[in-house]
Amino acid sequence: MNIAVAGTGYVGLVAGVCFAEKGHKVTCVDVDVNKVELMKAGISPIYETDLEELMRKNYEAGTIEYTTNYIKAYEYADAIFIGVGTPERTDGSADLSYIATVARQIAETVRQDCLIVVKSTVPIGTNDKVEQFIKDFLVHDVKVEIASNPEFLAQGTAVHDTLHASRIIIGTESEWAKECLLRIYQNFNLPIVSVSRRSAEMIKYASNDFLALKISYMNDIANLCELVDADIEDVAKGMSFDDRIGGMFLKAGIGYGGSCFPKDTKALKYLAQKYGYQLKTVEAAVDVNKEQKTRLFYKACDRMITFKGLKAAILGLTFKPGTDDLREAPSLDNIPLLLEAGAAIYAYDPVGTENFRTRYPEGKNDNGTITYVHTPKEALESANICFIFTEWNQIKSITPKEYSLWMQTPLVYDGRNIYKVSDMNQAGVEYHSIGRRNKNIH
Ligand code: UDX
Repeated sequence: MNIAVAGTGYVGLVAGVCFAEKGHKVTCVDVDVNKVELMKAGISPIYETDLEELMRKNYEAGTIEYTTNYIKAYEYADAIFIGVGTPERTDGSADLSYIATVARQIAETVRQDCLIVVKSTVPIGTNDKVEQFIKDFLVHDVKVEIASNPEFLAQGTAVHDTLHASRIIIGTESEWAKECLLRIYQNFNLPIVSVSRRSAEMIKYASNDFLALKISYMNDIANLCELVDADIEDVAKGMSFDDRIGGMFLKAGIGYGGSCFPKDTKALKYLAQKYGYQLKTVEAAVDVNKEQKTRLFYKACDRMITFKGLKAAILGLTFKPGTDDLREAPSLDNIPLLLEAGAAIYAYDPVGTENFRTRYPEGKNDNGTITYVHTPKEALESANICFIFTEWNQIKSITPKEYSLWMQTPLVYDGRNIYKVSDMNQAGVEYHSIGRRNKNIH
C-alpha cells in the first residue's frame, strides 16, 4: 500500500521504516529540511539500534522516501500515519498543535479516499475532533476516516519493539477502516486487538500509566524497605515469580524518566480532572516519582557538611541506557542542585554528553563547575563523592575495588542498585543505594 508518515521522530520514523520493511511504499514527511537531507544520506536523526541499517536498505530498494513536500506525499496515499509530537504543556495537558497542523495539511491535499491513522499519544476523544476538523477543511470530494493505532515502543529497542510488538491495537469506527489497517499489518504476523477509537486511545494511556505506577509502587516499597531493613532487590525477586504480578518493571531506582511515562501520567491526571474525576492512583505515582528523583541527593546532604569545592563524579546523564535522550532524566533534577551547592562536577556518559553540554556548557555554572570527561575513571579519580544516575554497561563494569582505588573518598550514591551492598562494603566503599539499608552505615 501507499503509506505516508507525518513526523520523523521516534514514533513516525520507526513506523515508516518498519512499514517499508514489511513491503509497503512509504513516504516520510518532515518540516525540517536538514533532517530530511540527513535521512536521505542514511543518517538517522535519533540514536536507535538497527534503524540506520533498515533506513539505508529500504532507501536503496526504493521502498522509503523522505521529503518536506507533504502535498506529494499525501495526495494519493492510501493511508497517512500521524506520528508528530504531543508535548506536555505547563499544566500537564497535551499540546495538540502539531497534530492540528498536519490535519489541516491533509484536509487540503488528499485527492483519493484515505485512512488517517493517529499514532501519536492523544487525550481520549481527540481523534473524533481531528476527524471533524479534517472533514470541515476537506477540499476534494473524497472519503477520509480517522483510526487510532497507538504504539508501545521503548527507546533503544524501538525497531525490535515495532517488528515484534506484544500486540497491535487498532481503534476504528467502521469496517472499512478496520479492513484497511488489517491489510497494512497483514505481514507483521502479530496479535491484533481491534477496538473502538476511544478505547484504543485509552489503552495507550492506561498501559503506560500502569507501568509508571508499577515503578512508583516499587520505589515506594523500596523506601519503606530501607526503614524496616528489608532488601528491595530480594523483595522484587520474590514478587516476580507470581505470574499475576509479572517480573518486569519491578526495578526500584531513581524514578522513571523519558518521553512517555512522565508526560502520559500527567496528561491522564489532567484529563480526569477536566471531567471532574480525581485519578488518585496515577496522582500518587507522579508524586512518588518527583520525590524519588532527588532522594539520594538529599540523603547525601544529610551526610555532608558541604559540597563546596568537592569533586563530584556523575556517572550517567541519559534517562536510561541505550539512548542519548535526556528528557526527564534524573541528572537534570540533581545536577542543578549540586551546582547550586558549589560542587565541582565531573560528568561521564557514553552518548549523552553532547546533548547535556548544550544545556550546561562546560565551566562555571551557578556556584559550581561542570566538566565533561570521556571515561568513568576520569570522573572518579580523586573524587569526593559519586552519583550513579544511569546503568550503562560502561558504568556497570566498574568494579567495587576501582571506586576505592580511584576516589579520594570512596562514597557512592547509586540510583540504579548496580552493586551488591556486601561487595561494595568489602571493597571499602561507603555505598548508599535504593531500598537497601547498608548495615555498615549508621
Ligand atoms: C516507555 C514504554 O516502555 C513504552 O512502551 C512506551 O511506548 C513509551 O514509554 P521508554 O520511555 O523508552 O518506553 O523506556 P522504558 O525502558 O520503558 O523506561 C522508562 C523509564 O522507567 C526509565 O527512566 C527507566 O529507567 C525506568 N524504569 C523502567 C524503572 O525505573 N524501573 C523499571 O523496572 C523499568
